[in-house]
Amino acid sequence: MTSAPTRPVPSSPTPAATSPIAAATAAEEATEAAEAAGVPPAMVLRELVFGAACAGAVRAAASLGLADALDEQPATAEELASRLGVEAGPLERLLRALVCYQVFDRAADGRYRHTPLSRLLRAEEPGSLRDIALWCTEPWTWQSWSRLDDAVRTGRSVFADAFGKEFFQYLHDDAPQSAALFNRAMTQSSRQSAQDLADFLDLAGIATAADIGGGQGQALAALMERHPALHGTLLDLPKVVEHADPRLLPGGALAERARLVPGDCRVAIPVQADLYLVKNILEWDDESTRRTLRNLRQVARPGARVVIVENLVDDSPSMRFTTAMDLLLLLNVGGAKHTLGSLTALIEESGLLLRSVAPVNAYLHAFTCTVP
Ligand SMILES: C[S@@+](CC[C@H](N)C(=O)[O-])C[C@H]1O[C@@H](n2cnc3c(N)ncnc32)[C@H](O)[C@@H]1O
Repeated sequence: MTSAPTRPVPSSPTPAATSPIAAATAAEEATEAAEAAGVPPAMVLRELVFGAACAGAVRAAASLGLADALDEQPATAEELASRLGVEAGPLERLLRALVCYQVFDRAADGRYRHTPLSRLLRAEEPGSLRDIALWCTEPWTWQSWSRLDDAVRTGRSVFADAFGKEFFQYLHDDAPQSAALFNRAMTQSSRQSAQDLADFLDLAGIATAADIGGGQGQALAALMERHPALHGTLLDLPKVVEHADPRLLPGGALAERARLVPGDCRVAIPVQADLYLVKNILEWDDESTRRTLRNLRQVARPGARVVIVENLVDDSPSMRFTTAMDLLLLLNVGGAKHTLGSLTALIEESGLLLRSVAPVNAYLHAFTCTVP
């Protein structure tokens, strides 16, 4: 990993209650809570090692469309099974497992009803996490998790060993359905953060913005909708840009102000803009980050603004979620969730001038830089 920052960051994020010390306290609290509830440590550990059963049950519910089969009327497992065309007995067992995690609830009469968690698995629910639930439990994840010890031994991604090629290359060449799911999941996850970012950014004096590794363009489209004179460029891998947000594609509401650039930002960033956004992509290996920032510095004119947006592992509202993502990044791209220090060091090494670090929302931080 990279070293700590060599000069103070103008405004650093407030350490949350999730610093390593606080995390140890939280672990103690969780153990105490389990003991107070009469669950001995040996049972807590037995439950932990069956984490795959929980992830598998949520995945099955999402892929069967179980949450969509249940409306506001409580229903029995038999009724749900007939709506889905599946076996009633095993469905009852799946529901019984999910109820343990508050995904669905079972009334005294044996009928099932929604909970806040099960509603999030509905495809059309506002804030739906269905695609994210499927993405985080894709078949390749199961093979990768079983090799975590190798990744810790070597400090490298296990992906090429397991699948014969790099992660994104595998997705686009060998698992197109998984690639399409990834793009939908990123769009789903970006929906709220795109609005938060649009609220956060001050675009005074900015006529052109470029989103580097911008996925399907959710954040860029939100910005362009908010600023009717803004011209925007989306750069991402060719197969991602091909399926960009319909608002940016020919005939779309923003198409006249939009440019789509298929490419690899580690090779070149052939885009001129007043503002460059780099959101949730610098979490791969450090060498890829160095190359991307170098390419950005080479192409951007002096004075251009670069806003790098990331989740920080040392300032996260959910350490269980962020540390899981951090380990998954190690497995698939040899990457990591950054700390304030590790990302600051890479930015400073690139020669960009870091002006401020500020929270965009509860879980994202923006590193605002200028090109010297
Ligand atoms: C975690 S997603 C983030 C997407 C988007 N910025 C957001 O915040 O929702 C990472 C993105 O980086 C893109 N990507 C990966 N490797 C890339 C490369 N070499 N050049 C350009 N984009 C790349 C992926 O296709 C994906 O859209």
